[in-house]
Amino acid sequence: MKIVSLVGARPQIVKEALVGAAVRQHSAWRHVLVHSGQHYDANMSDVFFQELDIPRPDYHLGVGSGSHAAMTAAALVGMEKVLLKEKPDALLVYGDTNTTLAGALAAAKLHVPVIHVEAGIRMQPKTMPEEINRVLTDRLAALMCCCSALGRDNLAAEGLTAGVTVTGDVMYDLFLRMRPRLTPEATCAAFGVSPDRFVVATLHRDYNVDDPASLRGMLNGLARVQEEHGFTVLLPLHPRTRRRIAEHGLEDAAAMLRTCEPVGYLELMSLTCAAAFVITDSGGLQKEAFYAGKRCAVMMPDTGWRELTACGWNTLCAPEPQSLLHAAASLLAPVAHPGDVYGNGHAAENIIRAIRSKTA
Ligand code: UD1
Repeated sequence: MKIVSLVGARPQIVKEALVGAAVRQHSAWRHVLVHSGQHYDANMSDVFFQELDIPRPDYHLGVGSGSHAAMTAAALVGMEKVLLKEKPDALLVYGDTNTTLAGALAAAKLHVPVIHVEAGIRMQPKTMPEEINRVLTDRLAALMCCCSALGRDNLAAEGLTAGVTVTGDVMYDLFLRMRPRLTPEATCAAFGVSPDRFVVATLHRDYNVDDPASLRGMLNGLARVQEEHGFTVLLPLHPRTRRRIAEHGLEDAAAMLRTCEPVGYLELMSLTCAAAFVITDSGGLQKEAFYAGKRCAVMMPDTGWRELTACGWNTLCAPEPQSLLHAAASLLAPVAHPGDVYGNGHAAENIIRAIRSKTA
């Protein structure tokens, strides 16, 4: 059997690390890795390949940045060529980016079964690009691998029950695998922050950072969290966010915080393990904070990871100072740990088992 994996944006590279390795461990299977090139800066892509021991991609589609249509179309055309040449038995896609949708569409039209890892996530607003991508990818998928029962239930509510399986979260597998390599104290020293006295923050969602009022509200809110609670806020800047800060003339607001370039997996997880808590609009980091035993303010109107907000471990907040201060205060109040809600660290193996039974 031949399996093609498609990655493109940084969270997909992280998810590919253990799933790709599990495919390659299967002696009778061949694995081909494709990078769409949606993320291309060294600190948005290469660093994850190096740290997570992911082999060089067999194909690089060179998609780069652009409008949603331009990116999706370029990846669609590129993937069609790869799939026609490789004639795989299945295509693995991850998450909800434009790369994910393009791969699923190219494969489905060529009757190549699509395996969607992190299937069944649903959230508001329905117009969010990632929501459009994930809904359509699930529609096209032959096998939908869900991180938890919630994903399965969301799919069932849309009438999707065949080919649905709950595998657990491969990001939890990866966190457990990488934990011995994390260096919280040394990484804190390198970034000039003190363990438990700082907050890790990341912001990149279009609806948060493209709107000047939201971006200002978030930066001012983070500065208020610093002032009121005495934490340093460490903010690695996604290139989109860095650009918007310059475009909207918000350099002074950003200068109140400890900003830095985007960080790799090992640095981000090391920092997360040492942080007082996390503030993010990243789907991945809100779960990774939980894996590191840290609470998280989720700067989104809704989240797909409702298991963590329903029990109060994570809390939603809006892009304005009062909401952020309120969220920070709630994260400092104790709450019971909800247990292993995203599996037991064997999601990659479960995905391989599901592929095997689907294609048997
Ligand atoms: C994309 C995904 C999002 C995911 C995120 C992870 C979509 C619709 N969104 O959002 O689901 O959470 O990746 O980071 O697919 N840029 C660079 N260098 C890079 C990559 C991007 O400078 O290596 C800049 C470009 O100006 C680009 C902008 O960042 O236009 C946004 O990148 P893009 O891939 O369109 O979306 P993300 O916000 O990264």
